Amino acid sequence: MLTYTTYSEAGGVGKSTIGAALLESHSNHGLDVLAIDMDQQNGSLTYLLDIDAPRDDSQADNIVRHLIDRPKGSLEDLIYETEYGFDLIPSHNMLESLEDLLNRAQQMADDLGEGDDFDPYDRLRQVLLESGVPQEYDVLVVDPPATAGPHLYNAVSATRSLVIPVEPTGKGMQSVLGLEELVDGLQERLEAEIGVLSAVPNGIGRTSDQDRYLTEIRDRGYPAPVAIRERSSLFEGCWDQQCTPRYYVEEHRDRRRDHESETLDKIDRLATEIEEVSEQ
Ligand SMILES: Nc1ncnc2c1ncn2[C@@H]1O[C@H](COP(=O)(O)OP(=O)(O)OP(=O)(O)O)[C@@H](O)[C@H]1O
Ligand SMILES: [Mg+2]
Repeated sequence: MLTYTTYSEAGGVGKSTIGAALLESHSNHGLDVLAIDMDQQNGSLTYLLDIDAPRDDSQADNIVRHLIDRPKGSLEDLIYETEYGFDLIPSHNMLESLEDLLNRAQQMADDLGEGDDFDPYDRLRQVLLESGVPQEYDVLVVDPPATAGPHLYNAVSATRSLVIPVEPTGKGMQSVLGLEELVDGLQERLEAEIGVLSAVPNGIGRTSDQDRYLTEIRDRGYPAPVAIRERSSLFEGCWDQQCTPRYYVEEHRDRRRDHESETLDKIDRLATEIEEVSEQ
């Protein structure tokens, strides 16, 4: 099974946008795909895909209730079908309090003498395993917020692999230089082996910069099959219309723009490469 977290140290570098496009590509490749939105922000994957989930309803069952061992139903019942062929477990406002809620759940487990079995950063993996849900899918992608904390740690612990959009700036490249240390830190914290499936320079201004960024990333030993150009009109358009980039191009554009098709093709190639890396 292919499992990864769309990860970046910085916010707003395209995790959710590129993630949505990758999800659609995996699905178009004939794979059964599940996404989990672990981001409490309103502008997350759930918003982009226009999923009408009861995120404000504090009584509704949601992923957090499962993570703190207080589910109101089965995990399967949290799954929504999107219009794009893949499924999604949506975000919920309870994710805002995840850290406190996990601490409380840990305390309760300790009081019952079951504290050793409760690992607050490994809950998502446990919940998925116990539910049998992953057996129904070929691909699992988790979209976390950019901040380090229990959302991210649960995502990484459950998926064990990362796809990393990188801002094509000095700062973004600095984060690539620090990647080895960062992955080591995650491995230590989660006591698990974490792999980088791909790093993706995203938002390249000048064509001539493309190869430089790809080469720098590859020289660090990370797979980097494609770089994605700056396509504000395409990506802003899909956030405006709340749909995947491919759907936006196919349904909301009155004529074909070659540079947009090229960007979609690149993301599709990235999806294929990720599928192949995970098979090795
Ligand atoms: N290649 C690109 N060219 C132009 N704009 C882009 C590109 N990729 C993403 N964007 C824009 O950047 C913004 C942030 O994207 P997105 O929300 O996917 O980032 P994120 O990393 O998920 O953010 P967060 O850390 O808040 O979760 C969006 O407005 C999106 O349209
Ligand atoms: Mg996001």
